[in-house]
Amino acid sequence: MSHTLALKTRYDAVAVTLHWLTVIAILCLLAMGWTMMSAKPGSPLQFVLFQWHKSVGITVLALTVLRLGWRIAHRPPPLPDTMPALEKLAAHLGHLGLYALLLGMPLTGWALVSTSPFNIPTVLYGVLPFPHLTFPAELGTKASLNATFTSAHVAGVWVMVALVIVHAAAALRHHFVLRDSVLTRMLPRFGQGDV
Ligand code: HEM
Ligand code: HEM
Repeated sequence: MSHTLALKTRYDAVAVTLHWLTVIAILCLLAMGWTMMSAKPGSPLQFVLFQWHKSVGITVLALTVLRLGWRIAHRPPPLPDTMPALEKLAAHLGHLGLYALLLGMPLTGWALVSTSPFNIPTVLYGVLPFPHLTFPAELGTKASLNATFTSAHVAGVWVMVALVIVHAAAALRHHFVLRDSVLTRMLPRFGQGDV
């Protein structure tokens, strides 16, 4: 069978790389987010963590836009035929929810710093100046918008944590209980050519 006709059984190298880079970035963002909120207000540590948090968060936004573009052009391998229809639906809805959060969390973060009374400029990784968003006055005062975006960002954290736990547990169930290839096809294959 020619290579092009072979049924796709794995996520391609780009999808795998973007998935795991995003996972590392999200874990760093959660750790930084919680640490900076408990750091001494106005301390140098808090300032540095805020800058890193904004830089890595905007990176997630860029990676997700790239990833969605790639995803539209490259269909992932189908889920196993043995999976009940309801589980397939749950998997698809779960992925949709994760994508919504991968866009929504950086966007609410960006919106909240753009409306913050502190008006601190964002300079990604200390080198790349990044603009603030502007909102039409009809949407509300800066202070009320800031409160709304901050609540959405902080609430989104918990929705994300819950969804990621269910998602990771489902992946581990596929590997260790159902013993199918759903997890391994998203894992990198180091040193074997076809990552
Ligand atoms: C996927 C991306 C992101 C994740 C997972 C994330 C996660 C978090 C977490 C865990 C916190 C601490 C919440 C708390 O305990 O109060 C937080 C707060 C915050 N994040 Fe993010 N964040 C992301 C993106 C961003 C971006 C892109 C920005 C800005 C450009 C940003 C700006 C902030 C700010 C300013 C706070 C403090 C909010 C406050 O004053 O209560 N975040 N974020
Ligand atoms: C921050 C954490 C994570 C996020 C945001 C995330 C996000 C996603 C998204 C959006 C997809 C859908 C890919 C597609 O378009 O088809 C996906 C697929 C997948 N993820 Fe994650 N993921 C995370 C963590 C994990 C972890 C910890 C594991 C393993 C324990 C894992 C295993 C998988 C697997 C196996 C797939 C492929 C599922 C399938 O074949 O349908 N993910 N992930």
